[in-house]
Amino acid sequence: MSEEKVVAVIMVGGPTKGTRFRPLSFNTPKPLIPLAGQPMIHHPISACKKISNLAQIFLIGFYEEREFALYVSSISNELKIPVRYLKEDKPHGSAGALYYFRDRIMEEKPSHVFLLNCDVCCSFPLQGILDAHRRYGGIGTMLVIKVSAEAASQFGELIADPDTKELLHYTEKPETFVSDLINCGVYVFTSDIFNAIEEVYSQIRDTSSNYQSATRSVPADFVRLDQDILSPLAGKKQLYTYENKDFWEQIKTPGKSLKCSALYLSQFRETSPHILASGDGTNRKPNIIGDVYIHPSVKLHPTAKIGPNVSISANVRVGPGVRLISCIILDDVEIKENAVVINSIIGWKSSIGRWSRVQASGDYNDRLGITILGNFIFFFFVQQIFRCFFLINLFLQVRL
Ligand code: GDD
Repeated sequence: MSEEKVVAVIMVGGPTKGTRFRPLSFNTPKPLIPLAGQPMIHHPISACKKISNLAQIFLIGFYEEREFALYVSSISNELKIPVRYLKEDKPHGSAGALYYFRDRIMEEKPSHVFLLNCDVCCSFPLQGILDAHRRYGGIGTMLVIKVSAEAASQFGELIADPDTKELLHYTEKPETFVSDLINCGVYVFTSDIFNAIEEVYSQIRDTSSNYQSATRSVPADFVRLDQDILSPLAGKKQLYTYENKDFWEQIKTPGKSLKCSALYLSQFRETSPHILASGDGTNRKPNIIGDVYIHPSVKLHPTAKIGPNVSISANVRVGPGVRLISCIILDDVEIKENAVVINSIIGWKSSIGRWSRVQASGDYNDRLGITILGNFIFFFFVQQIFRCFFLINLFLQVRL
């Protein structure tokens, strides 16, 4: 059994997804936006690396290949494991996308396929899920967690047998409460998952318009893992659950990314404390409070005070007397003397003037709970375009 190969697939979606991440997602795909100093997708990828006999990691999405090319080649070199980006010609749904690339995924004949959503934050107990799955049998095992009854309706709600852990009932984002146990978007499957998806496609083909109109509101070649596979297979001794006892969050908004950055930084404190910055304001080192990540290329004035929950990306310059609390500072930002940044994400190449204060309440669930500055270049161009329109308009008015 130890010889069996395993592969991992991470669903990254595409530009029509992740719209709540605007303006940050205008120039960087959501899965590549940094949390705790690393692209969002880096965290599940590093967790996959720890699975025994992992042969390959596939990222499946409908972003242009060039958007992932640099990251995919650098992470493959860093982890010494092949990471490949597979581009769909159009969205096929979370199960349809898996099926679309079934030959590539199965080319090394893996015994198991992990499937992960790119936009979840957790400690990814992947080996635990796989070991449990081997004990349970069936087609697949999914990571589940208990959340508050109010929060549950944003997720797939499910009922599991408390003894056998079998998935008995599954409803995706139900309107009325079913259960406070929810789907975390992390699964392991045997190759039988492809037969289950094929079955759905053949049902769609056979019963075409009846099946399509009675049960589905999406195109015929779009197959959703939740509604089309998990719901019908529940209660058939095919699917099992593995309960997550550690942290878990879904990352649908920039506010949540600030919260998840904090969770990953505190995980680093346990697993790899050398990644975190330190300093107490003496010996020409700034005062670092709590969990902070600082990229080695950052120029930080020794009188700055940083933390907790701060991550600062490459080539940032932080001036004298600057105070940063709970924020993500992206590449090439300049923060000038005595500026204060709290509960904010500062986009690439932005410049924060001296004595500025950029602050929000820090309620991560509220749309206005954090402040976001987008990419400076993007806004610069938009501003220039508006300026041109204004000048042309003025010119025409003068002529008339
Ligand atoms: N490649 C590709 N193609 N990826 C897709 C597609 C597609 O057509 N559609 C969705 N995805 C990706 C998304 O980027 C995300 O990583 C994952 O598949 C799930 O996205 P959605 O189908 O939009 O579902 P969701 O995120 O709202 O909810 C899912 O995850 C929750 C946990 O975070 C469901 O599985 C819920 O039940 C679950 O609780």
